[in-house]
Amino acid sequence: MSFSNKLNCFDMVLFGGTGDLVKRKLLPALYNAFLDGNIDKMSRFICLGRGEMTSEQYIETCFEFATEAKNNVDHNAWNEFAKQIVYLRIDATKTETYANLLELIDQSRINIFYLSTSPELFKVICTNLAELKLNHSLSRIVLEKPLGNDLQSSNDINDHVAQFFKEDQIYRIDHFLGKESVQNLMAIRFGNTLFEALWRRQWIRSVEITVSEELGVGSRGEFYEHTGALRDMLQNHLLQMLCIVAMEPPSSLDADVIRGEKLKVLRSLKPLTEEDVAQNVIKGQYKAGTIDGQAVKGYREENNVNPNSITETFVALKAEIQNWRWAGVPFHLRTGKRMQEKVAEIVIQFKDIPCKIFPISGGDSANRLIIRIQPEETVKLFFLAKEPGDTNRLKPVYLDLDFSEMFSSRRTDGYERLLMDIIRGNLSLFVSRQEQNAAWQWVEPILETWKNEKTTPKQYAAGSWGPASSTALLARENLYWHEEIA
Ligand code: BG6
Repeated sequence: MSFSNKLNCFDMVLFGGTGDLVKRKLLPALYNAFLDGNIDKMSRFICLGRGEMTSEQYIETCFEFATEAKNNVDHNAWNEFAKQIVYLRIDATKTETYANLLELIDQSRINIFYLSTSPELFKVICTNLAELKLNHSLSRIVLEKPLGNDLQSSNDINDHVAQFFKEDQIYRIDHFLGKESVQNLMAIRFGNTLFEALWRRQWIRSVEITVSEELGVGSRGEFYEHTGALRDMLQNHLLQMLCIVAMEPPSSLDADVIRGEKLKVLRSLKPLTEEDVAQNVIKGQYKAGTIDGQAVKGYREENNVNPNSITETFVALKAEIQNWRWAGVPFHLRTGKRMQEKVAEIVIQFKDIPCKIFPISGGDSANRLIIRIQPEETVKLFFLAKEPGDTNRLKPVYLDLDFSEMFSSRRTDGYERLLMDIIRGNLSLFVSRQEQNAAWQWVEPILETWKNEKTTPKQYAAGSWGPASSTALLARENLYWHEEIA
């Protein structure tokens, strides 16, 4: 999306300014927006951290991180952008250290407070901001995931934030919603007549949503130990993608309308019983293996990880949506670290034809629509066509659309669009409190069952597609994960 007008003048305060997210993702995304001319030159990015350093030193470190994240960052352009960055030393838990911020911030502008810190600090930061009366009508607060650890802790945080900020001032980020192809999925569904008529249980056999990563937990062992793949990825990114696949056509792009439709999907998810969890949820953990020819260690050998850890680095499950459009269609969701490839994709598998009059080469005859979110942004439609020559034999072929070639667009990871939306005050790509509750509520039986039974994860070799039971989950229904067919 292009922004014809510069966005209003604002002060954006980034808590957790010395953390990875700000340095690797947020500042590079804001730099891109700056290059595109979308940032008002008078606006400021006030980055907060506990370390002692000057703004110049901070800016130089951020330049290094941005270069690492983006390759070719032009030093001159970065210096221009960096004129808008100020670094302040603040201990977010101590009100008395906020004096510099209070002096600097211009309260007559839009004030954005981005909490890129551990969620344990959200409450104290909101209290401090309120004490200094920074929760005024032009303020917006941005909450990074994970928002809590379960339904109760997420409610706790939300209740606390709600004491000081109204719901329409709260931006709960799920950066997958900012990814171009996730939005393209809405465009494909609701901007065309082609697919909508087929987008229902009468024609769709199954839906598969995969987000796999090659990376392991790296330096985040401590965080990951009490988070795991279910809380880190499935409860938010994958369920949000499921909502966009499954939602009813919204009557407009208004935030309330879009969020309302996604909420209906979450509330229609069939609740999981203990038996469902045992049968239809696979918990996995990577052991040592090889990725791209390099030997990598297992999860239990990673830094700050318990050598007997039962934290999952992989989860695959079957979800069902109990409504007229989707009843009976399995939604298979899967995510994991240290897998064979980094991929995020949605596979819509259509039902088989009712009778086959042609011989078919190859085992896979189903029509499939594959929306790939990353690393490439593509849409592929698989169907059968006649093999050339003196034969009636059909063969699977596909139409392949690459969005970045088609639009020669720059690839973004979602943050840029979301940051611009926060500045513009558009909430449609942010998660409402009700959605968040519904998502926690749905995963709660899994958390409970795993906690009570201390379920040991199934091991899988780093560089594979997860434990064998993940294949078996689909095979039971005569289905295969996409890479097993391709
Ligand atoms: C984050 C998770 O939300 O998403 C990380 O906390 C994960 O564990 C990341 O690596 C994946 O996002 P992306 O955009 O790199 O695919």
